[in-house]
Amino acid sequence: MSIPLVDLQIQHRQIELEVKEAFERIMTSGAFVLGPDVVEFEKRFAAYCGVPHCVGVANGTDALELALRALGVGPGDEVVLPANTFIATALAVARAGASPVLVDARDGDLLIDPEAVGPAVTSRTRAIVGVDLFGQVAPFEALEQIAADRGLALVEDAAQSQGARRYGRPAGSFGDAAGTSFYPGKNLGAYGDGGAVTTSREDLAERIRRLRNYGSEIKYHHPEAGFNSRLDTLQAAVLLAKLARLDDWNAERRDAAARYHERLRDLDGLRLPTTDAANEPVWHIYQVRVSGRDEVLAKLHDAGIGAGIHYPVPIHLQGAFENLGKTAGAFPVAEAAAQEMISLPIFPGITEAQQERVASVLRAAL
Ligand SMILES: Cc1ncc(COP(=O)(O)O)c(C=O)c1O
Repeated sequence: MSIPLVDLQIQHRQIELEVKEAFERIMTSGAFVLGPDVVEFEKRFAAYCGVPHCVGVANGTDALELALRALGVGPGDEVVLPANTFIATALAVARAGASPVLVDARDGDLLIDPEAVGPAVTSRTRAIVGVDLFGQVAPFEALEQIAADRGLALVEDAAQSQGARRYGRPAGSFGDAAGTSFYPGKNLGAYGDGGAVTTSREDLAERIRRLRNYGSEIKYHHPEAGFNSRLDTLQAAVLLAKLARLDDWNAERRDAAARYHERLRDLDGLRLPTTDAANEPVWHIYQVRVSGRDEVLAKLHDAGIGAGIHYPVPIHLQGAFENLGKTAGAFPVAEAAAQEMISLPIFPGITEAQQERVASVLRAAL
């Protein structure tokens, strides 16, 4: 029995008819760019995140970059972010023209360590980006305090947390603005690239609406230089169909995580993921930790289990960010996690039998 890391076909089968009808309608109408489905999706996703504004953009990296730009982040500025995140968080900072300043994670839930953020702030710091890693919201109340005390902007990278909550507050509602990704494998995934910024700040929403559309509000009038970064109407139709089912699908992920916990908790040498008590995670990724990871991972792969690593190389050890001048040893928690993590298959619709098999192969491998 081979088991993929993520099975997108299960979700597709549930929305197939709805999506085909929507695609027919959009193809007939010709409203491919910023059509009514985009407007409707923005309205519904803003409500889902508990904020008044959502601006659909081309992908999650752009969402973060445009949020930072709208906040005035640019050349000469520093932006603090965690070392263990997907590279896009740091790329968004660099593309806005600012310098990423990395900080380590907390050992345990692997979220950004707020204790490390204060000491990283300098006179050039302009913003902090907290990342909702693996489906858990970052400790934003602590980041909000630092941002308020030091006069900094705060951005939530909510690419991995659609539907999650912290102290009951929805992901996508933290900081000045949040950027999310609708990459197909995300909890809310499109059929291609997509992203969005959610925010309570009307000024930011307006600015991002211009920035995503060549810097224009009125056709052929461009008060500032912008980008072409819009959420496609076809993708918005897929996202509308999926958003209606997201809570159910996230509940299935929670059940699956509980089953892994149950089946794996007695395994010697295996560290299970920990959940911050304030969080209701949505298990974008279910990662365990083990020493001798590469050997264990190879055994899982040999058995046809599509386990992965998120992420094998922390940002500061990537060639792309060599210029930051940080070497091995700079962020010990992120580096240890990168050596030990294995992401197990998790997706809505994963069966008990599939999870049982993952657990038994893992047991044997240990
Ligand atoms: C934490 C995080 N930030 C940003 C991104 C970037 O999103 P995208 O791939 O849509 O540009 C992703 C996903 O790919 C992500 O996981």
